[in-house]
Parts: sequence; structure tokens; C-alpha cells
Amino acid sequence: MISIIGAGKVGSAAAFNILRYRISDVVLVDIAENLAHGEALDMMQAAPAIEFDGTIKGTSNFSEIKDSELVIVTAGHARQHGMSRIDLTAKNAAIIRSITKEIVKYAPKCKIMMVTNPVDVMTLVAYKESKFERNRVFGMGNILDTLRFRSYIARELNVSREDVRALVIGEHGDSMVPLINYASVSGIPITNLLSKQQIEKVVNLTRTSGAEVIRLKGSTVYAPAATIAIMADAVLRGRNRLMSVSTFLQGEYGLSDVSIGVPVILGRNGVEKIIELKLDSETKEKLQQSASLIKEALKQAG
Ligand code: LAC
Repeated sequence: MISIIGAGKVGSAAAFNILRYRISDVVLVDIAENLAHGEALDMMQAAPAIEFDGTIKGTSNFSEIKDSELVIVTAGHARQHGMSRIDLTAKNAAIIRSITKEIVKYAPKCKIMMVTNPVDVMTLVAYKESKFERNRVFGMGNILDTLRFRSYIARELNVSREDVRALVIGEHGDSMVPLINYASVSGIPITNLLSKQQIEKVVNLTRTSGAEVIRLKGSTVYAPAATIAIMADAVLRGRNRLMSVSTFLQGEYGLSDVSIGVPVILGRNGVEKIIELKLDSETKEKLQQSASLIKEALKQAG
């Protein structure tokens, strides 16, 4: 079973994706009880059309998350137009601490997937508060950045998005590090297919396009919800997918005491393995800067 904390736009859209792909039963928890009930009821009524025979429940009662395999946290304040993700640190850290206490109480064996921003900082807050093993607490961010990166590379080349593979590491935020040398179209490095200017353009779009959606419609919904479903599928079905997630580092990449996006194998136990890439000195430097930014924000969070 999967529980989702936060029945706002992202939480409920993620729940619907999880049902639609028949990944798991879902419990949707929100302090706004009517909202959680209403979303669950709406989805239950859609269930015959999506051939979902399992359970979807909305509640404001944390005890209902009991025995969840995975708890996805989307609750907290969302980014408004003109704000960076980091701007949310102090407000959301308090919320995440209290939610984590409830998770530990009712689902002590679960994995926690953090979505609330700034996600790298909140992943660490949940990791410290829960005292879970580090593989069981991870954050959603870079896969979403990677989807954006893939979308813009595909558009630039007018090729199928499916054939574009890529990796983004670092903060899920303005300092993210799209790995140009690891991006390819069916195995062909993008450096063979795109000019330097074109690459700069797609990297820039990757970095800024979340904020552009917020400027236009107030929040991002479909892309984060799709990303959550990809990760939930990897964990619940034990698929061992290789993707970047925010994970607590203890010396890997020369970094410690920070949660940041790096490639991992994501499976039944959460982060099954951290993949250490050999990065060139410029990329390493960027990753280090990204980590410093997260650490700075963490200090703000106390
Ligand atoms: C985004 C939010 C979820 O990038 O951080 O869309």
C-alpha cells in the first residue's frame, strides 16, 4: 500500500496516476478532511474506467497509513511565482518534521519519498527526524528535471522523446547540473547531434521551465505527478531503475551530511545502490556548489 500525505494538486494527481497504472492501493491523507475524502471519492468513481479494483481512501487520520510500504510526502507550502524552491525552507521544515513523526509512529517499516520543496533539504529533515536507514528516505526532483531535459532535447531534434535518455544531478533547484556528456538519443551523444548553442538552450530551459509553468498557471502538476508514479512503480514493483534521486551522501562524490540528487538504483528497498560517476572537474565543482547551497538552506531550517 502507498500513502500520500497532502491531497493538493500534486498529491491527488499522483494518486490518480498510481491507480491508473495499478501500482498500488492508495490512502490519501490531508488535514483538510473534506478535500481528502472528495478526491478519493472522485477517483473511486473513475476506477471502473481505468480498470482499478483496489482501494482508494481519503482521510485526515494519520493512523490510516498503517503498514504502508511507501509514504509519499507532498504536503506543505508550494512555490509561488517569483519564489525559488529554497525560499520555502523554514516554513516547510516544521511541517515535514511533524509529518515525519506521524509516519514513524504508524508506518515504521515504510520508505519515505519526499516531494515537498526544497526537496533536498526536506529529504534530509525527514531522514534525520525518522532515524530510518538512509536507503529508506529519498527525494523526488532530478527525475522531473530529467523529464524536462529529455523533452527539450527531443523538441530541438524533432525526435521521439522516448529515444532521449539523460541524467540531471544536484539540487532540484536553480543549481541543478544537467549532465551533457551522459545525454543521448538512442545511444548517440547529444554533443554529436546538437550545437553548443542548442545545448545551452536546452539546459537553460531545463533549469527554468518549472518556474515558467508556475508563472503561467500557478503550479506544476502533471510533470511532478508523473514523476512520482515512475518512482512509486520502481519501488513497489522492485524494478531497480537507474535514476537520479535525492539521497543522503556519506562520502560519495566527496560530499557528506547532505541529501542531493545523484544516480541510484531505485527498487524494493528504496535506494538499493548509489552509482558514483567519474565527473570532470568542472561538473564536480558545480555539484559541490549545489551541495553548498543546500547546506546553507539547511542551516536556515535549524
Ligand atoms: C517542479 C516542482 C515540483 O519542479 O519543484 O515542478
